[in-house]
Amino acid sequence: MYNGLKSQTALERMQARFDRSGANTSEVAFSLRATLFATTEPENLKTILTLRFNDLELGNERKQVMIPFLGEEILDTDGARAYSPLQPGSSNQEANEFVRAFTYSQSPSKAKAMTGVSWPRSFTNPRLKKQYKIVNDFVDTVIEKAMANRERYEKEKEHSNCRIFIYELFNQTTNAAKIRVESLNILFAGRDITAFLLSNVWFELSRLPVVYARLCAEIDTLNNEIPTFEQIQSLKCLRALLNESLRLYPVVPENARLAVCDTILPVGGGPDGKSPVFVAKEKLAYWSVWTMHWRKDLYGKDAEEFRPER
Ligand code: HEM
Repeated sequence: MYNGLKSQTALERMQARFDRSGANTSEVAFSLRATLFATTEPENLKTILTLRFNDLELGNERKQVMIPFLGEEILDTDGARAYSPLQPGSSNQEANEFVRAFTYSQSPSKAKAMTGVSWPRSFTNPRLKKQYKIVNDFVDTVIEKAMANRERYEKEKEHSNCRIFIYELFNQTTNAAKIRVESLNILFAGRDITAFLLSNVWFELSRLPVVYARLCAEIDTLNNEIPTFEQIQSLKCLRALLNESLRLYPVVPENARLAVCDTILPVGGGPDGKSPVFVAKEKLAYWSVWTMHWRKDLYGKDAEEFRPER
């Protein structure tokens, strides 16, 4: 795992492990102390995220590394909750400092996600504490400004469809600490993922002039107007492009849940791997979306090619 991280080939290495085992569901060594239940079966993913949702949770280790930064909110909480969309608003210099600190603050959770190990010293690291403070102070200033503008927002809202996350949160709570962690959770969940998707799309477009031309022609039908929600949904080339990018380069390429009780998933057991399979309590159930999306039996011989028209 460490070598995979160092050479930035962790996803490919996991894929190769699945290939070598010849199975789409197996038990694999994860760290010195643990094995994983690992799967790339769409049916198992569906079941983990729906039917058996209550049998498999985020697990304490994920919570331990994320809570010091993100609080006990959306991304560290199991079960249902309600929230909506965010708007910042400060000088460029402050915003740049915030972005750098925000990026650095994610390092312990990234290290944990990639190595399976919590690094206790990372939380006492003075540099990290300083970055948390920069992040928190910046968000607190945004909240204060938003509080001061709340009345104006509510008035403008009467004549506009635009909704701003932070103001809408005020309708649920005026607790600044809670608003801060809610906002950070949304930023954490939405920022890098969107950047990854767009980078991958531009990368592929730069190599596919025909696809690019088709996309331009489709965008031209909007006549330079900002599209409505319905219009965005009808942009077929754009949709196919984003879908294909998310298939070949899934932006959440792997994930896991901890079994909180003995449970059963539909595929992976028996000699041919087609029978239901047992997952014991305390077992970490891991899935590789990356490997699943590159499976030739699911996507055809050209699964490794970027083809939005598929
Ligand atoms: C291409 C775009 C995106 C993809 C593929 C994506 C994918 C995902 C996935 C797979 C999860 C589940 C993570 C887990 O269960 O561990 C998730 C959770 C989440 N995402 Fe996204 N996401 C995208 C964009 C965004 C954006 C733009 C935002 C916010 C601005 C966002 C907010 C969230 C939140 C709040 C959660 C936690 C939901 C919960 O636990 O109930 N995502 N996303």
